[in-house]
Amino acid sequence: MKRVLTGIKPTGYAHIGNYFGMIKPAIEMSHNKDYECFYFIADYHALTTLKNREEMKEYFFNIACTWLACGLDPEKVVFYRQSDIKEDFELNWILCNVTPKGLMNRAHAYKAIVEKNEELGVDKDDGVNMGLYNYPILMAADILLFDSDYVPVGLDQKQHIEIARDIAHNFNVKYGKCLKEPMEKIDDDNKTLIGLDGRKMSKSYNNTIPLFSTEEALKKAIFRVVTDSRLPGEAKDKDCTVNKLFKLFSTKEEAQKFEKDLLNGLGWGEAKKQLFEVANRYLSPMREKFNYFMAHKDEVEKILKEGAIKAQLVAEKVLKRVRIAIGTED
Ligand code: TRP
Repeated sequence: MKRVLTGIKPTGYAHIGNYFGMIKPAIEMSHNKDYECFYFIADYHALTTLKNREEMKEYFFNIACTWLACGLDPEKVVFYRQSDIKEDFELNWILCNVTPKGLMNRAHAYKAIVEKNEELGVDKDDGVNMGLYNYPILMAADILLFDSDYVPVGLDQKQHIEIARDIAHNFNVKYGKCLKEPMEKIDDDNKTLIGLDGRKMSKSYNNTIPLFSTEEALKKAIFRVVTDSRLPGEAKDKDCTVNKLFKLFSTKEEAQKFEKDLLNGLGWGEAKKQLFEVANRYLSPMREKFNYFMAHKDEVEKILKEGAIKAQLVAEKVLKRVRIAIGTED
């Protein structure tokens, strides 16, 4: 049995790009008998972005409800909150001592800020705190603490997993084989989801369709999908955004018919109406579950506490092995 682990940073509300790109594949993996899944909410990683108590509480709880609403089954997945696992932060410190500073200098997120600062002509470390700089080491601790085999992530996180593997390797060279060297798992089919304007769906482009909004807001978002100026009766391009989005929510037969109708001149207004209908049909039951969990905070917290207890059983064992390796425990 292979152990699969991934973290979700609570820094915003999930959109359908997050759902199809990451949440759905991760939940599908948890139904595979060959995998034992550990999914957690990386609240301490979110500290690099979130700057106040209310935001932290809001996003943390929202993302927990999102995963449960999307079908995460706490019987199948060890689902927990990063900050509940104190062992993680002890391992983080230990790993700092086998991590060359140069490795952190090369991390994409840090490098991007340095490059921007250089362009602006300000100090290269302007606006960089140690949480951001050490981010990859804490992430390595998250992963290595659980002897993870696979880490399903988006392409943007690939380097972080490579860094975790390097850190594990450095540790093993220094102290003897102790930490498992993990592999990233990148889902090729879902690499990028198209946004309202035809670019990649991303919060930074403001072109997302929210996963859990009211029906009205969903309809509004869908009617904002950018189309060309072809009139009803004119054939539409089958690679258009409306068609791509439709496929995500519909059956194969519906998708074939929709595409044919577009080629036969279905008007954009009618096409969007049909897109809204399939999207809403798909999302409604999830939205109901989401609203249920949002209204049952105690239940969600209980699930996460039980998850933390299960996670800690593993974390304690691995940390003990590490402490023995470095000589702080017999
Ligand atoms: N850095 C990840 C992100 O921004 C979140 C994360 C934190 C993570 N710890 C992790 C992902 C460990 C995988 C494994 O999405």
